[in-house]
Amino acid sequence: MPSLLSRTIEATQALLFPWVFLALSASCLPGTILRLIREGRFATLFYPRALRDAWFTDFWGRIAGPGIRRDAAVRVIPLLQGRVDGGRVVERQVSRGIGGTVIEVGVGSGMWVDVYREVADISSEGESEVRRRNVGKGGDDGNASKGVITRVYGVEPNEGHHAALQKNIAKAGLEDVYRIVPVGIEDLDNPEKWDGKVEKGSVDCIVSILCLCSIPDPEKNIRELYSYLKKGGRWYAYEHVRVEYSWYMKAYQRYLNLFWPHFIGGCTLCRQTEKTIREAGSWEDINIGQPPDEFWYKTVPHRLGIFTK
Ligand SMILES: C[S@@+](CC[C@H](N)C(=O)[O-])C[C@H]1O[C@@H](n2cnc3c(N)ncnc32)[C@H](O)[C@@H]1O
Repeated sequence: MPSLLSRTIEATQALLFPWVFLALSASCLPGTILRLIREGRFATLFYPRALRDAWFTDFWGRIAGPGIRRDAAVRVIPLLQGRVDGGRVVERQVSRGIGGTVIEVGVGSGMWVDVYREVADISSEGESEVRRRNVGKGGDDGNASKGVITRVYGVEPNEGHHAALQKNIAKAGLEDVYRIVPVGIEDLDNPEKWDGKVEKGSVDCIVSILCLCSIPDPEKNIRELYSYLKKGGRWYAYEHVRVEYSWYMKAYQRYLNLFWPHFIGGCTLCRQTEKTIREAGSWEDINIGQPPDEFWYKTVPHRLGIFTK
């Protein structure tokens, strides 16, 4: 049992951490400005949205993303393997793992691309030959139920991430399988914005990892995403959400949110993303919750789980 002192220190650190995160992001801005000047991209400096994207690319790609990737792997990998129950990571598989046609929303620089390999691995017997079979081969409907990933659409509107994303796709050997969709999800169905098409009702899995906080008009766009899932399709979500448990933490999170979106690429803290996905349409099964190791002082609480259509 941790002592009162150690719990107080832990809570204080957790309450202060978001400010450290903002300061780290702020410290990135001068470097981004210098980079844009070096690259001769002067117009970007005077276009707030473009500057914000360039800044966020540097902050997420170099500073925040790798640390979050390392710490969140213990949740995200089991999630994609179907090993989460009520927000808790479990040993046994309680839902189907990802397979078939996948849309990953807001992929950033592709921190999680390599996980498709790992997940395919567990869906099989773990042999490298089987692993190779499990990503990218086939194309019929039966493959999805065998955990074979046939196509991944990585939706990412911030072009600043694309070079790193392409590198991560190549590193994972997924060039044949992975397609970058260079628009926001609001334009997924817009032929004027990109030259591909994803049919509604054709997608086996949607993956959203820490991104629905950043999309515009979440109710409308999450409903839109829902329409891409086929019957029986799954939505794997690891998202941070609005604090629900005490008035002072709610007030603290709201206060923090006055600054947060400006420093963290438009990310919003106070969204009820679980509720929004729940209400996007009818679901056959919902298995989601808050990870049990997140205590009252967590300013950025998460939801981890799977919705089955
Ligand atoms: C916090 S980052 C997370 C990136 C990635 N999922 C990860 O875990 O490393 C949020 C991402 O959502 C993307 N995003 C913003 N607006 C979006 C939109 N309308 N549609 C899809 N993605 C969007 C951002 O460009 C950014 O890369």
